[in-house]
Amino acid sequence: MSGPLLRCEGVVRRFGAVMALNGVTLEVAPRERRAIIGPNGAGKTTLFNVITGELPLSAGRIEFDGRPISGLPPDAIARRGTSRSFQRTNLFSALSVRENLRLAAAAGAPGNYRLFAPPARLRSSLAVAEEVAAAVGLERRLDEPAGRLSHGEQRQLEIGVALATRPKLLLLDEPTAGMSPDETQQMARLLAGLPRAVTLLIIEHDMDVVFALADRVTVLHYGEVLVEGPPEAVRADARVYEVYLGTA
Ligand SMILES: Nc1ncnc2c1ncn2[C@@H]1O[C@H](COP(=O)(O)OP(=O)(O)O)[C@@H](O)[C@H]1O
Ligand SMILES: [Mg+2]
Repeated sequence: MSGPLLRCEGVVRRFGAVMALNGVTLEVAPRERRAIIGPNGAGKTTLFNVITGELPLSAGRIEFDGRPISGLPPDAIARRGTSRSFQRTNLFSALSVRENLRLAAAAGAPGNYRLFAPPARLRSSLAVAEEVAAAVGLERRLDEPAGRLSHGEQRQLEIGVALATRPKLLLLDEPTAGMSPDETQQMARLLAGLPRAVTLLIIEHDMDVVFALADRVTVLHYGEVLVEGPPEAVRADARVYEVYLGTA
């Protein structure tokens, strides 16, 4: 495919009088790692919610993989090849790391767990689970119940669960939020090591993580794209410094 993987055009989302998104246009190329930054309330999470179909648009259009997705329900959008890791935990705490990943792999779409998959599919789901565990640094924790993992490891597993559905686009909303410096570094290494085939859209407030990871950065401010460009250009932009980096 030669076009963008994700295309948002004039996306508007209102909450009463609040313009959470006020005409956002952006394109994310296949294999790209794109960071979304901006002050609290800028509309970052709302942008994820409209992309994944959790919230309808007030106006505009979103295309994924060359086809319109705006108006589709979240599970239909997920089946097109998107997956989202939530800030709040989304794990089965009594089940092992392996089982959490295997169920996600068998479902092929988040929230659509298929508990009685045919054996052949089960085997390949197991292979995917072990591959993903290695990708998120949990290969030595496969038999551990998710509920017994450390906070940082649970966050790694959440990303693994999102990854196990084999998405084309992975959306991560503040994956290092609430983490210690050590956990943040570990997460940054994990993200940098993810397969390039997975296009990444990441909301992140830790600028070291953003600048080490992102190919391009989009700065949202009051629901509008303030600046977009490669990390060095964004970092050097006076407007970005004024509204965000200067206060971060
Ligand atoms: N479900 C909602 N109902 C009403 N207002 C909302 C809702 N979600 C977000 N908002 C408002 O939209 C704006 C953008 O919020 P949000 O997308 O969460 O920002 P960010 O993730 O950048 O901090 C804020 O003013 C917020 O209060
Ligand atoms: Mg947010």
